[in-house]
Formats: sequence, structure tokens, C-alpha cells
Amino acid sequence: MLVKRRRTQSTSDAFEDRINSKNPTVIIRQGYSLKSVICLCLAICLICQFLLPLAISFLQNAIKEKPVQKFKNLGGLISAKSDLKKSAPQFLVDPIYDEKWKDIGSKMAIPVVHLPEVEQTDPAKVQEALAAAKAARRSRKAGNLEKALIIIEHAYAMAPNVPDILIEMGQVQEGKNMLIEADQCYVRALVYDPNHVEAIGLRAKTSPIVSAIDRKMLNEVHDLRDEFASLQHSTALRRMMRETYFLYVYHTVAIEGNTLSLGQTRSILESGMVVPGKSIREHNEVIGMDAALRFLNSTLLSMDHDRISIDDILEMHRRVLGNADPIEAGRFRNTQVYVGKFTPISPEYVAEQMDELVEWLNDENTLNMDPIEKAAIAHYKLVLVHPFTDGNGRTARLLLNLIMMRSGFPPVILPVETRAEYYSSLHVANLGDLRPFVRYVAKYTKESIQRYIGTTKTSNCIGKENLELQECAI
Ligand SMILES: *[C@@H]1O[C@H](CO)[C@@H](O)[C@H](O)[C@H]1NC(C)=O
Repeated sequence: MLVKRRRTQSTSDAFEDRINSKNPTVIIRQGYSLKSVICLCLAICLICQFLLPLAISFLQNAIKEKPVQKFKNLGGLISAKSDLKKSAPQFLVDPIYDEKWKDIGSKMAIPVVHLPEVEQTDPAKVQEALAAAKAARRSRKAGNLEKALIIIEHAYAMAPNVPDILIEMGQVQEGKNMLIEADQCYVRALVYDPNHVEAIGLRAKTSPIVSAIDRKMLNEVHDLRDEFASLQHSTALRRMMRETYFLYVYHTVAIEGNTLSLGQTRSILESGMVVPGKSIREHNEVIGMDAALRFLNSTLLSMDHDRISIDDILEMHRRVLGNADPIEAGRFRNTQVYVGKFTPISPEYVAEQMDELVEWLNDENTLNMDPIEKAAIAHYKLVLVHPFTDGNGRTARLLLNLIMMRSGFPPVILPVETRAEYYSSLHVANLGDLRPFVRYVAKYTKESIQRYIGTTKTSNCIGKENLELQECAI
């Protein structure tokens, strides 16, 4: 495209030269009147000054905008996605140039979701907390929101499961314009007491507003994805994709306690050398993630359908856990597991629950869902069933990313620094409200995309890419 642009430019230069040099001589030789010569000159000047640049920039825009327009016209996400699919595998640029790791098996280890425990509260504490909630209500009615917030937070800490406390908390938050948090409180109050009249009334007000806020946020992320899709595949972008690959591996194992740093993770994958002082298990986690990502990239992303089968999930897991636990890798658990205070279903129901999960994944309604919601819920469901002895979290994040990438998003990194938010929103999902987890995923999807868009913007040499990138090496 750029080459073309330059060519157009030089054609117009030549054109100008021709008019400036040849034409006047021709005209004069043929003896036209001074008046018509001047008119002709004026006309030529006008053409050169306005019409030509206009025509050129129109052509340039036409060339530039074509792919974008095509994309937008597709409207629905589903069709947009299939349009993207042809180039989809480009998200996972191979970070390693040589082939030495090519046929590596898999390995891996740790994880497990620690859902924060729900404390059983004793009756005396509940009484005290209810009294505090009343005090908070008085403060709120008197207009002292700060004080009300302090009191109600104290009450909530003592008795987090009591509807009256939750709705007082919600009202204080509403007063502080924290509508999403307030709505979450009402939803939780309704989980504990579905017939709570006051909670129903309060929820009826916040619910539509919060839905609109959520919709808007998801749309913003979709817009960013479109922007990402229209980025030129510059060297800087490819570099960013390589870097993202390491970041993904690093964060997904670190969030479950792996202590390898980003640099060490990178070095293991790049050089295949051991990092002294780090356990074999931790090495195996990194190598397993790499194998699983490569499998996802080479197989699952290039399928010509959007279905996800039990086997797809098992095959991902087989690589995630492969070397660390070859027996358990790629098969459902046949023992009971305990995750903190969360006890997943007993092993005899796992296969059945997984069938249900896959049925849900491939259901027409699910396929038409917003991909961010779908990916987040799929992740949540997998973690809830906890089908494996180990590696559930990593496999769930792979599943999430499979769905996201099939919908045209780059890999989503859930940063290790946000671990608390990750687990607490999963916990809230367990209590019946999936939205905080969807928001969490949307938020980090947005950050993941912005990382790319940011890169190409700072290295805005891409416009002159033909001039060779080393000129503007960043
Ligand atoms: C992903 O697939 C693409 C195309 O099939 C390939 O160019 C790229 O190297 C792959 N990435 C990885 C990490 O294997």
C-alpha cells in the first residue's frame, strides 16, 4: 500500500512537470490568444492545487479504509470473527526461532483455585453487626456517608452473609455513587434471602443501570479489539506478540504460586536451560504451558468450526500437566479433591458435569453470547467442576483464551498481581453472581489489547515502514 502511495505521488510530480514544461510551449506554438493561455494556466493551477491532492488523498483513504470498512459492515460478532479467523493464528507468534523445542512433550504442575472461605458467623456477632448496621443507617440518613461507610464496613466484616447488612452497605455505596458495588450487595442479599422485599426494591433500581454500564464496557472492549484487528503487522507488533507469549506463560503459572520470574521463564523457554535453585516442578509448569499453548495455536485455533469438545479440553490438560504427572495428565480425576474450604463434586459426577459444560459451550445460545461473557463463564464453570487433580486453573485460562482468540481477541493475560481480585470474583461467582468475574476478565482483556495498541502507537514509525525499521528502531 505504501509503495503504491509513493508511486502515485511521483506520477503526479511527473504530471506537473509535463504540464509546466511541455504544454505551454505547445500552446504558444499553436498561437492561442493571451487570454485563453491565462485561463488555461489558471485552470491547470486549480487542478494541481486542489483537485489532484484531493484525488490522491481520496485514493489513499480508500486503500487504507477498505479492510476496516469491510470488517465493520459485517456487524455481528460472529461474522466478524469468521472474517478474522483466516489470520487468527498470528496471535501466538512463535517466540523461539530455532526448532529445538519443537516436539517437546509436556510437563507441569501446581495450581488449584483457593476460593476464599465464607466464615460461619456466630449469633452474638450477628446481633452486634445488625446494631452497627442500624447506626450506619442513621448516619446515612443524617447525610454523613463517610461515617456510615466506616460503620457498615465494620458490621460487614463481622457478618458478611446477613441480608440487612448487605443492603445497608449497598445503600451507603449508592450514596457514594458506587452503583456496581451497591448492586452486587443487593444481589448477594437476595442470594441469602430471595424474598427480601427491600432488597428486591433496591435491586430493581440499580439493575438496569448496572446492565447498561456493563454493556457499555463490553462494547468498549469490542471496539478496542476492532482497532487491534486493523493494526498493521509491523515488526514492533510481532515483537510485542512474542513478548506477550512469555508474559502469558509467566502470569498463568505465577498466579498459582510459581516463583519463576518473567526473565527466568523466558530463559527456560528460549534456551532450554535450567534456572538454578528453582524446582523441577516449577520448570515443568513453564514447559507444560508452552506445549499447551503451541497445541492450542497449531490445532484448536485453526479448526474451521467453533465447537469445543471434551477431547480438546483433555488434550490441553494433557500438555499442561504432562511431564509433572503423566498419569493424571489428560484425564479426569477419580479422587475427591479439596480446594481450601471449597469441595468440588465427587469424582463420579465429573464426566457427566463435563458433558454438560461442553454441551453448554456448543449450544447455539452460547455461541451467540458475547465472547467475553462466554469465555469468563466457561472458565468459571470449568473451575467449579474441577475435573482434574491438578492444573484446573491453567486449563481454565487456556479455555478462556481459546474462546477469546477464536473471537479475534489477542491472548488475555490475567496478571499475577491481580490474584486477589481473580479469586474473590470467582468466589462471588460461586455465591451466584457471575458479573464481577466477567468484569474482571473484560478489564484485563482491555489491558491486554491496550498493550498492543500502545506499542504500535509509540513506535509510530510504522507509517514509514518501507523506509526500513532500523531507522526508527525502538
Ligand atoms: C502459531 O501458528 C502460526 C501459524 O500457524 C505460526 O506462524 C506461529 O509460529 C505459531 N506460534 C507458536 C507459538 O507456535
